[in-house]
Amino acid sequence: MELKIHKPQLFIETYGCQMNVADSEVVAGILGKIGYQLTDDAEKADLILINTCSVRENAEQRVWGRLDYFRAVKRRRPQLQLGVIGCMAERLGEKLSEHEAVDIVAGPDAYRDLPMLLDKAKHGLKGINVDLSQDETYSGITPERLHSESISGFISIMRGCNNFCTYCIVPYTRGRERSRDPQDILNEVRHMAGDGFYEITLLGQNVNSYQWKNGQQITTFPALLEILAQSFPDIRFRFTTSHPKDISDELIHVMARYQNVCKHIHLPVQSGSNAVLERMNRKYTREYYLERVAKIKEIIPDCGLTSDVFCGFCGETEDDFKQTLSLMEQVGFDSAFMFKYSERPGTYAAKKFRDDVPEEVKIDRLNRMIALQNKISHNKNQQDIGKIFEVLVEGFSRKSQDDVVGRTSQNKVVVFPNQGFKRGDRVMVKIIKASSATLIGESIN
Ligand code: 5AD
Ligand code: SF4
Repeated sequence: MELKIHKPQLFIETYGCQMNVADSEVVAGILGKIGYQLTDDAEKADLILINTCSVRENAEQRVWGRLDYFRAVKRRRPQLQLGVIGCMAERLGEKLSEHEAVDIVAGPDAYRDLPMLLDKAKHGLKGINVDLSQDETYSGITPERLHSESISGFISIMRGCNNFCTYCIVPYTRGRERSRDPQDILNEVRHMAGDGFYEITLLGQNVNSYQWKNGQQITTFPALLEILAQSFPDIRFRFTTSHPKDISDELIHVMARYQNVCKHIHLPVQSGSNAVLERMNRKYTREYYLERVAKIKEIIPDCGLTSDVFCGFCGETEDDFKQTLSLMEQVGFDSAFMFKYSERPGTYAAKKFRDDVPEEVKIDRLNRMIALQNKISHNKNQQDIGKIFEVLVEGFSRKSQDDVVGRTSQNKVVVFPNQGFKRGDRVMVKIIKASSATLIGESIN
């Protein structure tokens, strides 16, 4: 007789950035070692973890809403365990653990402790660990991929942030910067290459300050990228996020030198006004940022450029805001993530500055910013018509199986007719049409 052993099922709901996706995979790896199996059906789960974000207030509000929903689910299924992990867990540990639905709470550096916390919860106690660490990089853990069918995955190469931009909660929720051993990263890439990944994004809050010291030898980010590009010629590499203050000529040259390093830089500018940049503690000026962009365009003329920008920071005047719009126009970002400022308790800005831009002004500025960027993205994409790009096929298009979808090196999404292509194929595609979000093309293979 066949004996069926029930493996406890784990469902992870991930909010926020790509770092969180990578962390959820680390968590799945840790829990996999004690028998948990990933499921994509929350109804079947024995354990649900919510990996949370604290960057903006609305991200946290959504999670409180989810917890109230799970309170009702748990009344129906009392055996279900629920945990909150990630940045919001770090920020609001005690408060979260008081919620009726929550069994465990673990901050970004406490994931090795999850088995112990779960055990505690099984004995009726709330398990909580929000200790930050100086050196935790989850070395030796093999992440379990959340989307095993995917050809494009993430590896975090460093954790934490030392920059203390005055608006930002991340240094408080993710702690100090620390980098992973390059050998560890190489092993993980090798593993992923064996598992059918064709594209890997190297992640960190600020990848450009990646640094590994081994005796006298120092590995910097450009050096790491070069080693990876040489060692895995069949893998396409991306990286994010870059702080403008650290984007060196050396890095741009490495990008230019290797065909398998994608020609795309995500370079958050945040504001185009020097007065605002100074209050944000960004450590660069508008002029410096524009000089870096000029350098990138000089060395890599076809480089994709994207950004994060937000409006309504403390003291931002209409004139400051107009400078942000003019910078966006001057650079011509291919796309941008745009936000309005939301005060985060505990940050320097929350303590020292007044959140003095009225909500309706923030909303109005955000709308103007989005309208401008849509126009810019549309124009940029129109300029791609007639050009030929190598596209890495990710799968069928959402709308129809007659089309496939993939990305260019510049990170633009391209949809084109499926002529028997499969995931992972690299296809030369000529662009024939474009909207502000997508390019439409046809293969010329
Ligand atoms: N309010 C609004 N946007 C923020 N960001 C970070 N902190 C805040 C905040 N308090 C934005 C920045 C950052 C992106 C991840 O989120 O643009 O680059
Ligand atoms: Fe990621 Fe920042 Fe959100 Fe933390 S707070 S999950 S680092 S976006």
